[in-house]
Amino acid sequence: EQDESLPAAIKMKISDSETSEIILGNENITGTRVKVIGRIENIRTTKAFTFVYLADTRATLLCVFSDQQNETARISLQKQATLEVYGEMREVPPKNKAPGDRELHVDFYSTIGKAPGGSEAFSNVVPESANQATLPDFRHLVLRRPEEATVMKSRAAALDTFRQYYKAHDMRESTAPSFVQTQVGGGSLFSLQYYGQTAYLTQTSQLYLETQLPILGDCYAIQSSFRAENAHTRLHLSEYTHVEAELDFIVFEDLLQHIENVICGVIDMLLADPESAAYIQTLHPAFKSPARPFTRMRYSEAIEWLNEHGIMADEGEPHTFGVDIAEAAERAMTNRIGEPIILTHFPVHLKAFYMKKDASDPRVTESVDVLVPGVGEVVGGGMRIEDYEELFSVMKNNKWDLASYSFYADQRKYGSTPHGGYGLGLERFLAWILHRHTVRECIPFPRYPGKCTP
Ligand code: 4AD
Repeated sequence: EQDESLPAAIKMKISDSETSEIILGNENITGTRVKVIGRIENIRTTKAFTFVYLADTRATLLCVFSDQQNETARISLQKQATLEVYGEMREVPPKNKAPGDRELHVDFYSTIGKAPGGSEAFSNVVPESANQATLPDFRHLVLRRPEEATVMKSRAAALDTFRQYYKAHDMRESTAPSFVQTQVGGGSLFSLQYYGQTAYLTQTSQLYLETQLPILGDCYAIQSSFRAENAHTRLHLSEYTHVEAELDFIVFEDLLQHIENVICGVIDMLLADPESAAYIQTLHPAFKSPARPFTRMRYSEAIEWLNEHGIMADEGEPHTFGVDIAEAAERAMTNRIGEPIILTHFPVHLKAFYMKKDASDPRVTESVDVLVPGVGEVVGGGMRIEDYEELFSVMKNNKWDLASYSFYADQRKYGSTPHGGYGLGLERFLAWILHRHTVRECIPFPRYPGKCTP
């Protein structure tokens, strides 16, 4: 029962409880009586007290339960249970420590949502020390651990920051369908039955973004892309978050500059914001905004660099012009150079059908990959073929089902423009700046071969 003689409690969020408006009590003065709701992050018991760290994802408040509280109810307190707690805000006694230098002395509480104890207790199901790779079926609970929660908050901040960056640069957001009948090359398609027709899960929003240029101007989409790559690697997901943009009336150099600006701009904004800066500092203390301008290298120069540095192709042979540089070789090169690389001008046959050829060397395309240390490729993009006849013949040579691509060809038929764009893998970007071992840690519920739950 609540003690009716106490002053009425002020309802507040834990994250608001650090304001100066609250009087902190001590031996001489009575502190403000407040009421907060939170989830039990941690519990520590001494003979005289139970210390409950109550959190609301933005802040933590130390709640002190004394002997006066019902002994049996105290035993029922479990990590991750949610409580409503009433009490007086007080100064922390010298020598002790508490978040925000304050503690709440509980005079009444009620349990809003219980959590199990014993073998099903949170700490037993997802032990702090257990590597999350051994706990994939408990991903939903693993995410509640402080480190994983910090990755998810960083992800939220990054998504928000990309949108802020694009807005500040007059770019509009679009969306593209997930069920499509187009592909951009490779065998990495999920196909499914769609009302009696075969359809695919989209690998990219690019083709649709291109069609939005006359409507929205420079635009972007942030959506899932799907890749049926049977690749058990640190860098491949079957469903990932693709940050894609398309820019109108540009030349290749504009695209390269824009890509460098977005990457650096978003990182600078994340580091300038105290909240996201703190997340990055916690997870990757050594991370610094990359030096500009980024190192640029043509594909042909990368081939030379690899051979000069003894990084061989798959069969132990030197790299030759025309080979698809393996991801491992790319990463080895980027790690040695130790900073982001803008790799350009890939041979025509290594890139998707829509890539514009380099006017001065038709063997290569106006294509770009951005590689970063520790991860490898985070961005892929390029200029698009803008000429209707040329695109049409490429589509025919590739034996595309022309009907499925007619909307794409119409983009050229009705007022074509020089344009280009790129896609950035959000999870790879996060793995880089947050220093995560795998992209699987950078998405709430990773999808990879064999894993479709939770
Ligand atoms: O290089 P990709 O395949 O490019 C495209 O899809 C273009 N149509 C994008 C565009 O121009 N709008 O993919 C772009 C990026 C890669 O650089 C990588 O960061 C990420 O998407 N990516 C993946 N991330 C996680 N798992 C996978 N399986 C990925 N495949 C690509």
